[in-house]
Amino acid sequence: MAIAPRTPLIAGNWKMNLDHLQAVAFVQKLHWTLKDAKHEDGSVEVAVFPPFTDLRTVQTLLDADKIPFALGAQDLSAHDSGAYTGEVSGAFLAKLDNRYVIIGHSERRQYHAESDEVVAAKVKAALRHGLIPVICVGETSEDLEKFGASAVPVAQLTAALAGVKADAEIVVAYEPVWAIGSGQAATPQQAQDVCATLRGVIAEKLGADAAAKTRVLYGGSVKAANIASFMREPDVDGALVGGASLVVDEFAAIIRYQKHVGV
Ligand code: PGA
Repeated sequence: MAIAPRTPLIAGNWKMNLDHLQAVAFVQKLHWTLKDAKHEDGSVEVAVFPPFTDLRTVQTLLDADKIPFALGAQDLSAHDSGAYTGEVSGAFLAKLDNRYVIIGHSERRQYHAESDEVVAAKVKAALRHGLIPVICVGETSEDLEKFGASAVPVAQLTAALAGVKADAEIVVAYEPVWAIGSGQAATPQQAQDVCATLRGVIAEKLGADAAAKTRVLYGGSVKAANIASFMREPDVDGALVGGASLVVDEFAAIIRYQKHVGV
């Protein structure tokens, strides 16, 4: 699937939800819903990030039914192979036609103690295997109070981009930790400010070209009711959606945000 630069990306992070049978039913229903609405015209890229155990099944379905959704994994190992019990190599994900892999989600940083160094190693592992890392950054409410909204995301992104080449394809997701699953999304202006600042970090580390091409997403309590207000912002190129990506009609309405933006 050839994709125009900065095509809006609506990404559904299912987290630890939906087994492989539920995943099939979900993807089919989403596809039918969007097809009925004539919304599979390529103006928005749709990506789903199921659990590891669903990936082969979803890959087969997308392929067999020619469903134009991209596939992504929720994590990968920093290593390529070997004695790492329970880990999943980027090589295996690439073999399953994954296009994306989420790296450094705040739930990984929080529950699995993933440091900036681990995140940076995983970004390199993804790129080694031709996967596009979706690099997640975001501040907690304590960070927000102490340092403001940009300081922590800027530090996290700077660390994640160490050693990344200027021509590498990456996606960045600004996900304030306080907005994830809380029902309290950032305001569009807050999202715009941080996304613009993160684009500045990309410019500094990878150059102006990369900054102009890279998609910066907002994530955290995105819903059908607020997506259009985020997508109106010039530096927000899409959304990483958690809870609302598990409800077909809601996720389809998010993907069809242009209806609400009036473009
Ligand atoms: P949420 O999750 O949409 O449920 O807030 C977003 C995420 O964690 O990626």
